[in-house]
Amino acid sequence: MANKWGFPLVLLSLVIAVLNLAEAAVPAIFILGDSTADVGTNNFLPGSMARADFPYNGIDFPNSTPTGRFSNGLNTADFLAKLFGFEKSPKPFLSLNSTSLLKWFGGFSFASGGSGLFDTTGQRMTKSCIPLAEQIQQFSSVRSNLTALMGPVATETYISKSLFFISIGSNDIFEYYGSNSSIPKEQFLSSLVVAYENHLKTLLNLGARKLGIISIAPIGCCPAQRLFNATGGCIEELNDHAKAFHSKLDVLMNKLSAEFQGLKYSLGNAFEMTINVIQNPLAFNFTQVEAACCGTGKLNAENFCKPDANLCSNRDQYLFWDQVHPTQAAYKLAAVTLYGGGPQFVTPINFAQLAKV
Ligand SMILES: *[C@@H]1O[C@H](CO)[C@@H](O)[C@H](O)[C@H]1NC(C)=O
Ligand SMILES: *[C@@H]1O[C@H](CO)[C@@H](O)[C@H](O)[C@H]1NC(C)=O
Ligand SMILES: *[C@@H]1O[C@H](CO)[C@@H](O)[C@H](O)[C@H]1NC(C)=O
Ligand SMILES: *[C@@H]1O[C@H](CO)[C@@H](O)[C@H](O)[C@H]1NC(C)=O
Ligand SMILES: *[C@@H]1O[C@H](CO)[C@@H](O)[C@H](O)[C@H]1NC(C)=O
Repeated sequence: MANKWGFPLVLLSLVIAVLNLAEAAVPAIFILGDSTADVGTNNFLPGSMARADFPYNGIDFPNSTPTGRFSNGLNTADFLAKLFGFEKSPKPFLSLNSTSLLKWFGGFSFASGGSGLFDTTGQRMTKSCIPLAEQIQQFSSVRSNLTALMGPVATETYISKSLFFISIGSNDIFEYYGSNSSIPKEQFLSSLVVAYENHLKTLLNLGARKLGIISIAPIGCCPAQRLFNATGGCIEELNDHAKAFHSKLDVLMNKLSAEFQGLKYSLGNAFEMTINVIQNPLAFNFTQVEAACCGTGKLNAENFCKPDANLCSNRDQYLFWDQVHPTQAAYKLAAVTLYGGGPQFVTPINFAQLAKV
């Protein structure tokens, strides 16, 4: 889907972008990924089941507005945008219209809840979500509009200095794990990383040069998965997938940085970041790292967060907002760690260093 308003709006937005340049570390941020980064894309997909534009989602957002974020408030994309000097995180590409574009510009968000690296991921469960390949096509249309406006050289510079934040892959693993697939684990993970490689190459060929990537969290520890463990512990196999995925991604990024001149990247280790909190919650001011804040039943994780669910009051002390998603407090911790964290959590440089190179 292209922006129906087309070209003149991009022009207006660019004027605003230039005004923004003074404070921001990068000219724009482009967000790609799944529900961990979605700021409302799926609100614009009629019939999508992967939605969060209803209470209690957004209860801690200004005016308790449910925005489509899978969170009680903001998510990592929002906090990163602030850390990079923007007032707000970029709006969903699909939300663009004359009014919203006039307000401000700092990039676009293409992230869509339920989506994955594979085009098929999430389609059956969500009825509608935008796979990474299509998100990159949407970016490509933005790029062609920019090129028509500023010419190829200025566009290339603009894009090469912009941050591309990518948070994706969990849904592919959930779906593989839930489908009792006969494809061996190793083969599945390799094909997933090949898919990632192809997507990144497309993005790099479109001029992206600053990639901020976050790998997969210990998804076996989310409340909905703990339900499948009689002891309430994590599902180790899912965590093993997440860990192995990070290792493979590390190798891939290293390889790509040798192939693409000028490529700079930060790879956040979501597994390491999160398991650290789960093993030592009090050090991070969390008191509940197993149950969901919003939901029903065992671990508050037998159903999704909706207006008649149970809602915890001490939301800043919970790691999980709903069955699978972190709370605003956890998203913030992730963003701060990506931005300023050491090599245990983000390699080869952190996002603050990435902003400067
Ligand atoms: C434009 O988008 C904003 C926010 O995305 C929305 O509130 C507003 O109603 C939209 N306006 C039009 C004319 O569609
Ligand atoms: C913006 O890009 C889209 C997709 O490439 C295209 O359909 C549209 O015509 C472009 N607008 C202009 C004026 O370049
Ligand atoms: C996978 O296997 C489990 C346990 O045997 C079963 O409960 C589940 O329905 C199966 N899922 C699919 C998609 O076949
Ligand atoms: C369930 O959790 C326990 C720890 O409480 C762990 O040892 C076990 O491997 C987990 N089971 C599965 C299926 O992952
Ligand atoms: C935990 O809370 C205390 C008291 O509010 C604060 O001083 C400390 O910085 C917090 N620690 C973390 C890791 O957020």
